[in-house]
Amino acid sequence: MNSLLGKKIILGLTGGIAIYKSAYLLRRLCSDYGADVQVVMTKSALEFMSPVIFETFSGKKVISEMFPKELSGTRHVDLPVEADMVLVAPATANILAKAAHGISDDLLSAIILVAGNKTVFAPAMNVNMLENPATIENIRILKERSYDFIDSEEGELACNTSGKGRLADEYKILEIVESKLAGNKLLDGKNVIVTAGPTREYIDPVRFISNRSSGKMGYAVAAEAVKQGARVTLISGPTNLATPFGVEKISIESANDLQKTLLDNNDNVDYLFMVAAVEDLCPLEFSKDKIKKNNIPEKIDLKLAPDIVSAFRKLNPQTCIIGFSVEMENGKRRSIEKMKSKNLDYIVWNDPSKKGVAFETETNEVTVFSAKGMETFLKKDTKRNIAQGIIKLIKNN
Ligand code: C5P
Repeated sequence: MNSLLGKKIILGLTGGIAIYKSAYLLRRLCSDYGADVQVVMTKSALEFMSPVIFETFSGKKVISEMFPKELSGTRHVDLPVEADMVLVAPATANILAKAAHGISDDLLSAIILVAGNKTVFAPAMNVNMLENPATIENIRILKERSYDFIDSEEGELACNTSGKGRLADEYKILEIVESKLAGNKLLDGKNVIVTAGPTREYIDPVRFISNRSSGKMGYAVAAEAVKQGARVTLISGPTNLATPFGVEKISIESANDLQKTLLDNNDNVDYLFMVAAVEDLCPLEFSKDKIKKNNIPEKIDLKLAPDIVSAFRKLNPQTCIIGFSVEMENGKRRSIEKMKSKNLDYIVWNDPSKKGVAFETETNEVTVFSAKGMETFLKKDTKRNIAQGIIKLIKNN
């Protein structure tokens, strides 16, 4: 049986030339897969194509008005709540901008806002629009919030140029829609804690010791774990990142805060992803007042931060713990030693001497080791795809 049979899908059509391909996509969804599809068209989509063709294939009236005269009520809320998926294909730069910024000034954008990450976007547009920093940023925001994308492809574009921006191939769209609705999620119903970002070890109320961690890897793990069906608590040091959709976030600052928060939340944790870059250098003393310039000491005495993951392990022998190490020289040996001494199940080794790896970057490249002897290299990719690779590995090894 196919996983789309009887599934309620809202097919959102926006005003791009690729809309003609969506007629065939709709036909496949309804006739070949037996999905129950409601088509929603924006005003500009209606300029490109008549709704008649979509009504014929879906067997339902196409809707586009937020407040139709013949209807009262809240269908912009009811429809997405009942739907299994909202598929926006083609998705224009405009609908992505609205979704990224919570604008809901027509029926489709309101539906997307209600549906959250049930929504899948298949962008299609002119290459300049796609590569405009505004669109790049909007797509980044949406991906960070766990929205799924079926990325557009390279090729001839309607505007007589070629480049990226063609609507993804219909087979690819159908494959992704099917796998998203198939429901075989890797962390279904699991309780997951992810720690992320740096910690700050204060010298006085305005000065602290910290490190270069941006939190991007930890946030990507949290977003991916939600997508894989987990209940996720993200304990995060200071970052500039938006909280991924569906994640419960607790903000902390110091290593001591992190330890306390983690140990306060240690009931029934199935997986702990210890991605946080705990700052090991802690000032021995904290001055309650800002230290005056003429009183700045020549040396600051330091102590080591508590070893948080080891403290957690002692209390939670059953939790699967994934540590993250940042090591350059002898990185493999040192990471494996760390995994053993901290009693971790896995360790993910990042080598920041390589370009585009570890701190502050959008990409990463890691080697994952398990206590049972597995060693797997995950080649350079977005942090989100690396997060997915790590979760797959720990589920299968
Ligand atoms: O900093 P280090 O390379 O030792 O970190 C290895 C693992 O141990 C990481 O998962 C990190 O979050 C964790 N850690 C910790 N407490 C510390 C230092 C690191 O739990 N004080």
